[in-house]
Amino acid sequence: MKPVEIKDNIYWVGAVDWNIRDFHGYSTYKGTTYNAYLAKDEKVALFDTVKKPFYSDLLHRLHNIMNPSEIDYLVVNHMEMDHSGSLKKVVETIKPEKIYTSVMGAKSMAAHYKVDNWPIEAVKTGDSLSLGRRSVHFLETRMIHWPDSMFSYIPEEKLLISSDGFGQHWATSERFDDEVDNGELMRQAAKYYANILLLFSPMIQKLLEKVGEMGLEIDMIAPDHGLIWRKNPGQIIQAYQTWSQQKTTAKALVIYDTMWHSTETMAKAIYDGISDTGVSVQLMNLACTHRSDVLTEVLDAKALVFGSPTLNNGMLPRMADLLHYLRGLKPADKICATFGSYGWSGEAPKLMAAQLEDMKLSLIEEPLRLQWVPDHESLKPCRELGTKIGQAVADAHLPASCRAIYCGD
Ligand code: FEO
Repeated sequence: MKPVEIKDNIYWVGAVDWNIRDFHGYSTYKGTTYNAYLAKDEKVALFDTVKKPFYSDLLHRLHNIMNPSEIDYLVVNHMEMDHSGSLKKVVETIKPEKIYTSVMGAKSMAAHYKVDNWPIEAVKTGDSLSLGRRSVHFLETRMIHWPDSMFSYIPEEKLLISSDGFGQHWATSERFDDEVDNGELMRQAAKYYANILLLFSPMIQKLLEKVGEMGLEIDMIAPDHGLIWRKNPGQIIQAYQTWSQQKTTAKALVIYDTMWHSTETMAKAIYDGISDTGVSVQLMNLACTHRSDVLTEVLDAKALVFGSPTLNNGMLPRMADLLHYLRGLKPADKICATFGSYGWSGEAPKLMAAQLEDMKLSLIEEPLRLQWVPDHESLKPCRELGTKIGQAVADAHLPASCRAIYCGD
């Protein structure tokens, strides 16, 4: 339960949650961390707290540094309960001189914890707090991802404490980006962005612009989840630039569920058609792929193809779940298509297509339906659909020299 010094007299004092496997529908199969930070100066400030069951982890770490009752200020960058669940007990223990939070954070704190005697001071972008040798500058980041969200910046240390921004759900004994595999780190960061922040992409672009205009010098980003970016904070800033622009690559996903493998057979034929064009393609069966892992791949995929047979005049439940989840996250700039096998009514492909149109995602082709069990001949339209999708992706992304020439079958 030792703290980790991340800068001179600034410590990580958070908690590691090795066991969480679901975070509001996001599969956290690698756990997560709830990061909190303590800055010791002439005045001492604690930035954020931890989820309620981890209060004692936080307290033990604080005791390793100082008597928690000697902490002067509490800064609450975000009121969601994974960071504020232990707030009441922390306030009772520390009895802070002041609690700094955003205007929306102050409203949320009063309403959530039903307190009217906490020394809350609401702050806005541009407000600052002196700790003595160092200072804390506040930057509101409304709707990234709650109305109360804000960053705290310590210019003397070029340290950005970034709340949920730039985080990853990944439980590790390591605390810094340079101590873990960079590929896995970026994969977890991309999953986090795709599943939590994608819908806020326009606001994230504006925030990144604003941070650029403010000329903040940053050599460390300390988020409230996962690893701290100390070796290369520019890597995650650049990734957020790319992700928030919803930039796509030459990649297609064939996402499907199936009852008796006929829709799966169609999925494989569409996959073949795409693959033959030289475009990278993944086959994602919803029976064994979690919705949040699908979204991670959706982040940079150019084409999304959805398949479901018809059950009770609708689509299979896992596909309905995925489309509902997708709608909330607002992906943009995709080429889409739908398909499915059927016995008698066959509504699923049309229903999926209607939902995609509702999300303002463009369909490259009318919904493709095949009755009963497909054979080599009846699968021809599936291969042709795949080819059409692959060519559209290649046209958008691949130089002519890289495109495979498809000659039919
Ligand atoms: Fe990690 Fe929005 O809480």
